[in-house]
This record gives sequence, structure tokens and C-alpha cells, in this order.
Amino acid sequence: MAATILLSAIAFAEAQDEEPMKAEKIVNTTCTACHDLRPIQTQALDAGNWKKIVTSMIEKGAQVEEKDVPILVGYLADNFGPLPDGDGKPILLNKCTNCHDLKRVRQHFASPEEWADTLNSMENEGLKLSEEEFAILLKYLARNFRQ
Ligand code: HEC
Ligand code: HEC
Repeated sequence: MAATILLSAIAFAEAQDEEPMKAEKIVNTTCTACHDLRPIQTQALDAGNWKKIVTSMIEKGAQVEEKDVPILVGYLADNFGPLPDGDGKPILLNKCTNCHDLKRVRQHFASPEEWADTLNSMENEGLKLSEEEFAILLKYLARNFRQ
């Protein structure tokens, strides 16, 4: 009895892990048949709006199976989900998605001082920001992603 429960728990956990992996594969293969990842990385949309994009891409010819649409939409909303409005948003979308996805940023909450340190360390990694962009972005992050 216990073993059966354990086994089905494992099977459930595996199915849970497989969906994002499958969706990631679709994004990296099917969704890059006509353009690179940039248009995907530079949107920040909720599931409803990702659904609209996926539908419109299928109309354009993207080979996504109907049954994979919900998995794909869930993955897109999770990894390229909505961001609060503000002057910093376009800078964040354009500059911070070159080395890692925005999930990394959205899950990070810090004080203004810590955000300034993070931006400095991103600059050491190779991020290019003007002084003005730095100030706008810092304000945006400190306000919306505050610890
Ligand atoms: C058959 C070619 C094709 C495939 C495959 C494709 N796209 Fe596109 N995609 C386009 C074209 C063409 C545009 C530019 C649309 C425009 O300028 O009106 C675009 C633009 C976009 C945009 C920018 C927003 C917009 O509506 O213009 C996003 C986001 C996007 N695609 C996501 C995806 C995703 C996610 C997938 C995989 C499900 C995908 N695309 C697969 C052709 C494709
Ligand atoms: C030139 C590449 C690059 C760019 C551009 C970049 N990052 Fe990073 N970022 C990294 C690397 C590499 C790491 C991982 C460092 C590590 O794992 O120790 C990282 C990690 C992070 C983390 C996690 C830090 C932690 O302590 O867990 C945050 C938050 C972050 N970046 C925010 C940003 C923001 C905000 C921007 C845009 C202003 C940005 N990054 C742009 C390279 C970059």
C-alpha cells in the first residue's frame, strides 16, 4: 500500500517535471523556426495574452499540437510572465534578458542598496547601462521588487 502511494507520487512528480521540459523544447525548436528567442524574451505577458500569441503563431504556421498548447502557455507565463508597468520595464526587458531569463529577476526581492549592488555585479558580467538607465532601472526594481 505504502509502496503504491510512493510510486504514484513519484510518477506524479515526474509528470510535473516533464511538462516544463517539453514546453522548453517546443520553444527552443518549434518557436525558433521563423525567428530567434528575442521576441519571446522581450514580452512580459500573462497566460491569456500568451495564449493569443501562441494562437496567432499557429495561424502563421507554427507546428504546435493542440494538446501541447496549455503546457506551452503555462511555461511561457511562468518564464516570461507579466511585469509591473513603469519606465524601467522596457529597459529590464531589453537589457536583462540577454544572459538569463526574467524569472531570475522576478524571484529576487531586495533592498534598494542590494539592487544597486546586483546591478553593479551585472555590469561586471558585461551588462551595458547608461547612467540614466541605471537610475531608472534601480528605482523600478527597488519599488517593485522590494524585500
Ligand atoms: C511560421 C513562422 C513562425 C513560427 C514557427 C513562430 N513565429 Fe512568432 N512570429 C512570426 C512572425 C512572422 C512574427 C512577426 C509578426 C509581426 O510582425 O506581425 C512573429 C512574432 C512573434 C512575437 C512578437 C509579438 C507579435 O505578435 O508580433 C512573439 C512573442 C512570438 N512571435 C512568439 C512565438 C512563439 C511563442 C512561437 C512558438 C509557439 C512562435 N512565435 C513561432 C512567425 C513565427
Ligand atoms: C552580461 C550578462 C548578464 C546580464 C545582461 C544580466 N545579468 Fe543578471 N546574472 C548574470 C549571471 C552570469 C548571473 C549568475 C550569477 C551567479 O549565478 O552567481 C546573474 C544573476 C542574476 C540574479 C540572481 C542573483 C542572485 O544572487 O541570485 C539577478 C537578480 C540578476 N542577475 C538580475 C539582473 C538584472 C536586473 C539585469 C538587468 C539590469 C541582469 N541581471 C542582466 C549575468 C547577466
